[in-house]
Amino acid sequence: MAKKIAVLGNGYVGLLAAVGLADFGNTCIGADVNPDKIAALSAGRSPLYEPGIEEYLNRNLSSGRLRFTTDLAEAIQESEVLFITVGTPSLEDGGADLTFVGQVADIIARNLNSYKVVVIKSTVPVGTNRWVRDRIAQAAGAVPGKDFDLVSNPEFLREGRAVQDFFHPDRTVIGYESDRAREVMFEVYRALNVRSVPFVWCSLETAELIKYASNTFLATKIAFINEMANLAEAVGADIHTIAQSMGMDGRISPKFLHPGPGFGGSCFPKDTRALEAAGRQFGVNMSIAKAVDASNEAQKQRTGLKLARLLGRTLDPGSLGGLQIGVLGLAFKQETDDIRESPALVLVRQLLDAGAQVRAYDPKAAPNFAREFPEVTYYEGAYEAAAGADALVIMTEWNEFRGLDLARLARAMKGRVLVDGRNLLDPAEARAVGFTYEGVGRGQPVGRGTVQGSSPL
Ligand code: UDX
Repeated sequence: MAKKIAVLGNGYVGLLAAVGLADFGNTCIGADVNPDKIAALSAGRSPLYEPGIEEYLNRNLSSGRLRFTTDLAEAIQESEVLFITVGTPSLEDGGADLTFVGQVADIIARNLNSYKVVVIKSTVPVGTNRWVRDRIAQAAGAVPGKDFDLVSNPEFLREGRAVQDFFHPDRTVIGYESDRAREVMFEVYRALNVRSVPFVWCSLETAELIKYASNTFLATKIAFINEMANLAEAVGADIHTIAQSMGMDGRISPKFLHPGPGFGGSCFPKDTRALEAAGRQFGVNMSIAKAVDASNEAQKQRTGLKLARLLGRTLDPGSLGGLQIGVLGLAFKQETDDIRESPALVLVRQLLDAGAQVRAYDPKAAPNFAREFPEVTYYEGAYEAAAGADALVIMTEWNEFRGLDLARLARAMKGRVLVDGRNLLDPAEARAVGFTYEGVGRGQPVGRGTVQGSSPL
């Protein structure tokens, strides 16, 4: 039987959960303390850009199975299942800030008017589920397993593909402690069960670690291929041929082996640091997580250094004075307006500190970026941002940059330096129209290698 669900916190994960769980046939109340957000959502407008989300939002609002409120207490009292989806920002030491999780736990404790399953979907440090369970039990004088249950249900959504990921997950992980809670969760996700998505039923701590293990492992793959790309660059080898050949080994898989300016976003940097912090807390040396974080920070510095080198300058203060640099792509990846931990933040800071003027374009993320960098000039298109520029850098893998007319770009620019931070362009074509071109790890002077029997990456 479909469940009555409250989704507490309607940021990225919360919005997807509210809309998706309603689409599964459950009745959902999205609750958030921010009245502007709730007003927008109630009117069918998503406060964040995510392909397909507004269509699903409107469909479920009209079905009557989804509504939004600022009244968390009412949402809790009316529901049997409570998803906690508030933010858990990074602390200085890499740990996660649990202030919002704690606040929501206290509101739940004050409104525990019947048996409820409290589901933590926010990414939280190891031990948090148990901590929240005990906090609610103590504050409400309630007995876990009888008055309420705690469930850990980590999220694996990718921004830009979150709708698809919600409805077609590779797996659904559920950490639980009682059969009653398991039955409730089975009903919540009945639609996925019907489609036979694998379910992992496990303990609270195992569920917590699955999330960190998965994200840190993927981050490790990226950091590794980035370092390999740097080495390929130094020895004159082609990273794409290397990555493709590595990926032919089924044990490695070709996914997440695309080199770039460093990974960003709300998950990989934060989760890698949180895993390291968990190791410190429990006396286990998580040296790989630590190395991945440091490697990625160094990678984020490299694009600016490469650009300065190609311009025959440095990044010292004033060294890029009088130069105009075009930056294409500000989001941490394509199909999102999210700039959290974006490599473009590091590059633009370097360029401005070295005295350059920055002309930027991003299909979606410019308004968010402008809040951090009002001194940058933002344009409506790639050619406009390139006009009169001494050099151009591609920072985000937006598809529209793959199809750039390089001859037109060259004509629009003043200089001819082109740094392709995502390897989206054909180096030979770029050089043919006069660019001094550098990608990432494309050291092979005669062009890219080919692997027989399949197309080059
Ligand atoms: C990630 C995880 O994929 C998701 O399962 C988790 O729930 C949240 O974190 P997301 O941050 O949305 O999702 O983006 P993802 O597509 O994984 O990319 C993360 C970063 O790595 C981006 O900056 C992207 O550009 C970069 N990346 C990814 C690479 O540089 N190379 C790759 O091969 C893949």
